Parts: sequence; structure tokens; C-alpha cells
Amino acid sequence: MSQTPTSILSVDQWVDDVLGNAKFNSPAAHASAYAPSNIALSKYWGKREVNFNLPVTGSVSISLAEHGTKTGLSVVDAPQHDITLNGEEVDASQSFAIKLSQWLDRVLPNNLKLRVDTYNTVPTAAGLASSASGFAALTLATNSLMGWQLPEHKLSALARLGSGSASRSLWHGFVKWQAGEQPNGSDSVAFLLKHQWPQLRVGLLTVSSQKKAVSSREGMARTIATSALYKQWPEQANSDLTVIETAIEAGDFETMAGTAENNAMSMHATMAAAWPPLVYWQPDSLTQMHKVWQLREQGLPLYLTMDAGPNLKLLFEAKHQSDVEVAFPEVQVITPFG
Ligand code: DP6
Repeated sequence: MSQTPTSILSVDQWVDDVLGNAKFNSPAAHASAYAPSNIALSKYWGKREVNFNLPVTGSVSISLAEHGTKTGLSVVDAPQHDITLNGEEVDASQSFAIKLSQWLDRVLPNNLKLRVDTYNTVPTAAGLASSASGFAALTLATNSLMGWQLPEHKLSALARLGSGSASRSLWHGFVKWQAGEQPNGSDSVAFLLKHQWPQLRVGLLTVSSQKKAVSSREGMARTIATSALYKQWPEQANSDLTVIETAIEAGDFETMAGTAENNAMSMHATMAAAWPPLVYWQPDSLTQMHKVWQLREQGLPLYLTMDAGPNLKLLFEAKHQSDVEVAFPEVQVITPFG
């Protein structure tokens, strides 16, 4: 899994092939774009190739409507990109700035530097990952600034180079990222599923908004290298993906949400079996999980999913929103198809 000069070169080569002559277009004065954050119902956990961010399995997500990232771009005459986050300068040495700059240097003509103003519309306290919406918004804004006019599947692949889950954040609604087979990831792209579910609700339950100690990237690598349970993960993830996609088409909430919860629990089990153990849950996460299970036993169709962090995302339908709000007064409710 180590980064070899050859594979780094081939990512640059692939980017040049995708952009062609458009790479040298003159930039517009300014461009901006918005992309929603997303939550995987069937998770991406594990890379088959690290430089192109290629996943071991496909995944399916639901986008979080107005919770996402807005990015504004303009050209600057400066030696490096000038990056702000929510109105504050980000130091070039911070990993956020390094990752954004690396992506930009890969896709822009030599020496073109940008001012990048990033606003997360996700309240910081929600503890939601912003790398997915961040790289998706950056990809869309750069496409517009540079006049690339790329088709969506190519934009999805470019966003993936920044962060895997960003490949799914270009659309609102249910999105499927297919694993693909090509070594350069040209077929590892996401697309919008046409089914809509206006009654679906996602509830954000924040346990902690602190930055996670182990990044997804590092956590995935550790799980693959050391967790004996990871052997069964690809098979389950592929099967869950099919079950969830079918349940979405059928409007079968219990199957969709129940499979999503089991998928998340299984992902966390494979992480816990890694060495050193990888446990993103906090004591309060477990308290909230038990509360969800208790309410479900009492008859409330309420399910949970969790990513690489301590926070819960609740899945339920509009008819149960007031019950959920009574049980969890702090919940933030999102209407994905609002
Ligand atoms: C648990 O997309 O953040 O949220 O590709 O290394 O940037 P990188 O990882 P990232 O991982 C997301 C992991 C997850 C599951 C998911 O969103 O599918």
C-alpha cells in the first residue's frame, strides 16, 4: 500500500488525460459551487488502491440537502493557494490546506494559484465529515472556474482523488458509487439513483464535535492490515449494497434502514478487531445507541448509522418525526428530499 513514485505519476497522467487541452483554459475571474454532505447507508471502508482512492466495494449514500459546503474560487497572484474556512485563514501547514492544495496543483496549469473560500453549512458542532462535501464543492467550482465542462462521471472521479466519499457528494438524493475494475479508476465513479423518498428523515445526534484521532484513510489501512474480521467485510458490503438499493426502489423502509444499521455495526466490528483497536465510539455513543434500540423494541421504527466517529445518524420517516424529537430533544432533523 506504499505510495510509489510510479503510481503518483500515473495519477497525474490520468488527470492530464481527463482534462486534455482544457487543463490550459484561461480561468474565469470567479466561480463558486455548493455540494451537500452525504451519509453512507452501505459503507466504503477499505481501499484497493490508495493513490486513486479506489474502494474495495461499492457504496450507497443519502445526501444531506442544505448541510454541505459552499466554495468560492478566484485567481491570486501568490506563491501558494490562499485558503479560508468559514471566514478564517487556514495555515498552509494544516492538513486541510495541504490536501486541498495537492488536489488543486494536480488539476490546474503550472503556477496557477487560487484563493479558496470554503464555508461549511454543516454546523461545526454537528460533527459531520466535511471532506466529502468539501472536495465535491471544490471539484464543481474548479470545473466552472476553468470552463472544463466535464461530464458528471469524470467530475465524480476527480472528486474521489481528494476523498473517496466526495465522489458521492455531487448530487442531492440517493447516490451509488460503483467500485469499478479499472486500475486508473475511470469506472470507479458515482451516479444518482433516480428513486426519491420525500418521507425519509435523517437525524443528527452529536456526541462530540472534536476532530477524530484516526483519519478514515489511516483507519481503513489499519483495518485491512490487522483485522481478521475484514476478510468477511467485502462480501457483506456488496450484499448490503444490493439489498439497500432494492429496498430504496421498493420504498421498504425497515429493510433499507435495518440493513444500513447492520452494515454500520459490522463496519465498526471490523475496526474494533484491528490492532491497535480502532473504536470511534464514546461512552455517550453507546448510551444513545441503547436508547435507539430500546425505542425500537417499544415499536418505534427508528434505526441508526455511524461513520468513523462517535456521532449517530438516525434514520426514520416523517410520520415519526415528533416521537423522535421528543425522545431526543437535541436531534437535528434533515429532510433529504425537502
Ligand atoms: C466511514 O471518504 O473520508 O464515512 O477516501 O480516505 O478520504 P478517504 O476516506 P473518506 O471515508 C469515509 C468513510 C465512512 C464511510 C463512507 O462514507 O462510505
